Amino acid sequence: MGESRPLMEHRLLVTGYGGFVAGSVVWQALGGGRWDVHALSLLEGPQERERFHCRQFDLCDEAALEAAFAEIAPAAVIHAAALADIDFCQSNQQSARRVNVGVTAQLARLCSRSGAKLILCSTDSVFDGVKGMYTEDDPPRALNFYAETKVEAEGVVRGAVPNGVVTRLGLVMGLPVLGAGNSFLARMQESLKRGQAVKFPANEIRTPIDVITLGRALLELAENTFSGTIHLAGSTRINRYEMACFLAGRLGYRPELVGATDSNAIAGRAPRPNDASLDNAQARRVLATPMLTLSDGLDLVLRMKELQQGGQAPRA
Ligand SMILES: NC(=O)c1ccc[n+]([C@@H]2O[C@H](COP(=O)([O-])OP(=O)(O)OC[C@H]3O[C@@H](n4cnc5c(N)ncnc54)[C@H](OP(=O)(O)O)[C@@H]3O)[C@@H](O)[C@H]2O)c1
Repeated sequence: MGESRPLMEHRLLVTGYGGFVAGSVVWQALGGGRWDVHALSLLEGPQERERFHCRQFDLCDEAALEAAFAEIAPAAVIHAAALADIDFCQSNQQSARRVNVGVTAQLARLCSRSGAKLILCSTDSVFDGVKGMYTEDDPPRALNFYAETKVEAEGVVRGAVPNGVVTRLGLVMGLPVLGAGNSFLARMQESLKRGQAVKFPANEIRTPIDVITLGRALLELAENTFSGTIHLAGSTRINRYEMACFLAGRLGYRPELVGATDSNAIAGRAPRPNDASLDNAQARRVLATPMLTLSDGLDLVLRMKELQQGGQAPRA
């Protein structure tokens, strides 16, 4: 273990840069002016530019992660990298555990040693979906292996990093701002554009958060003094079929292309919680970033996508 350098107050480390959530974080951090952003990705990153640096390596490479962390000496880390495909995790449990728990544990050790603030992206899926509108005090009960790894990762952060933050994200809605990643809306739009029907479970209830608000909230948590667990979720509680109908309608697609299904009837799918809606009262209390309704969140996503396509930096 090498000696840790003093923290670089203006340096932010973001993992999972090629992904959906981290792309929004990085784009907004660069628009904000507060941070020098150091992004870690499995994929080759874009060219370095002012206040942006990207390194490419597998986060499971402990030596590479330790060396990068020591060089960067970040003041805060937003840990968005994960194996986030629930069904992939169910059938690849060793990899899922290595990435979702192992990498988090190493980052937790590095942050606790240096004093950097660690912000972990966890999930609404840690709950069993029986009660709904879960608060931060409700006990998790994982129904699938992905959720088990997230519960474990949460415990690691709470146990090792006194100024750590566990964020539990509602279903993330939006279009990728940088990179690609796990956007159901982008996939749905692709199908609808081709005139292909899509189906969403009517018995899965969520509190979707738009990816722009989520990026802002994660950055705010990197900058403020909050520590502990916080639910980052939108202010609309809705089932996934109705949500898809709403989004398709607003984007100008034929509503009859969207059908309802039952999550328990999809063969080979790992179990999901039915009602994993999150209570966002604490986020509304402690964050300046407002937790939006689904409709306002979609407006924000579309506005920011236009800005980004015009090559402009975001402004809050
Ligand atoms: N999207 C949602 O609705 C949602 C909801 C709740 C919680 N979350 C959580 O939010 C976080 C971000 O999710 P997301 O939607 O942005 O997922 P994503 O698009 O799949 O991004 C995850 C990123 O992690 C990277 N990664 C995985 N293993 C890696 C490794 N060994 N080394 C380096 N990078 C690695 C992936 O790189 P590659 O693409 O190159 O594999 C990917 O870019 C995750 O922790 C997820 O569990 C997401």
